[in-house]
Amino acid sequence: MSTRQLTANSRQSTAHPKTVTMTIDGKAVRVSEGASVLDAARQAGVHIPTLCHHEALEAWGGCRLCVVDVTRQGWDGWCKLVVSCMYAAEDGLIVLTDTDRVKLTRKVVLDLLLARCPETPLIQELASRHGIDRTSYQANPEPTDCILCGLCTRVCDHIGVSAISTVDRGIGKQVAPPFHQAPPDCIGCLACAEICPTSCIPYETSDTRRVIWEKSFEMVRCPQCGRAHITQEQARHYAGRGGVPASYFDTCDACKRRQLASTFTKLQVVQGGAR
Ligand code: SF4
Ligand code: SF4
Ligand code: FES
Repeated sequence: MSTRQLTANSRQSTAHPKTVTMTIDGKAVRVSEGASVLDAARQAGVHIPTLCHHEALEAWGGCRLCVVDVTRQGWDGWCKLVVSCMYAAEDGLIVLTDTDRVKLTRKVVLDLLLARCPETPLIQELASRHGIDRTSYQANPEPTDCILCGLCTRVCDHIGVSAISTVDRGIGKQVAPPFHQAPPDCIGCLACAEICPTSCIPYETSDTRRVIWEKSFEMVRCPQCGRAHITQEQARHYAGRGGVPASYFDTCDACKRRQLASTFTKLQVVQGGAR
């Protein structure tokens, strides 16, 4: 290989990350290597329903609602049912999101979820879109809105706290802090409540206090705009991870951005005057 070819190839490999090409419901789509079938479907504008997936978190594959059939040219029509949020996009893959088997599997998932959460609007609506108005299983005598998607516990792990987890089994399975007591590690960031697709984690927040998981937090008020924007525990947690003093987080993000913009403007004026 000549030096020129080598240089050209190296440049090509840095400039263009490897891609894979596949079809989804007949549409050709090219995605970066490492993307999932779900990512590819979203890129192609093909809707696949999901309940436990969030772009900010690693795929978990818990709800099984995102199942699709996959096949290849050489498979003689044989198809494999896979979980699209966990299955890697591959060159030549043929994805089918609307086969009878896919529809039936999603129906079973939603039927079971409707039995657990018969009064939850999100599940009622999804089930109805899949042709289920009433569960064919015995409905939970103590309805809950928790669909056990695991997003709350995973986001809490992701921020490095792990204050909550799933406890108990069967229909009694639920998300809770250890021993159902106010979790000592919780920093009151509300990430779990905000990510919950059924909004079933209650909390209260005001200018002075925040309460979640029955733990009460004092708020930090921005010295510039006066807004209560973070709990003291959050400030300490972020400071510990970022290696900066907790007081760095006293000022809210909006005021920090304003400060930065004003510093840049002053600098530009000074530089303009010096020219
Ligand atoms: S509010 Fe508490 S439990 Fe919820 S994500 Fe934040 S630290 Fe975890
Ligand atoms: S509380 Fe919400 S986020 Fe957590 S598992 Fe239940 S439904 Fe999912
Ligand atoms: S979204 Fe894929 S398993 Fe839940």
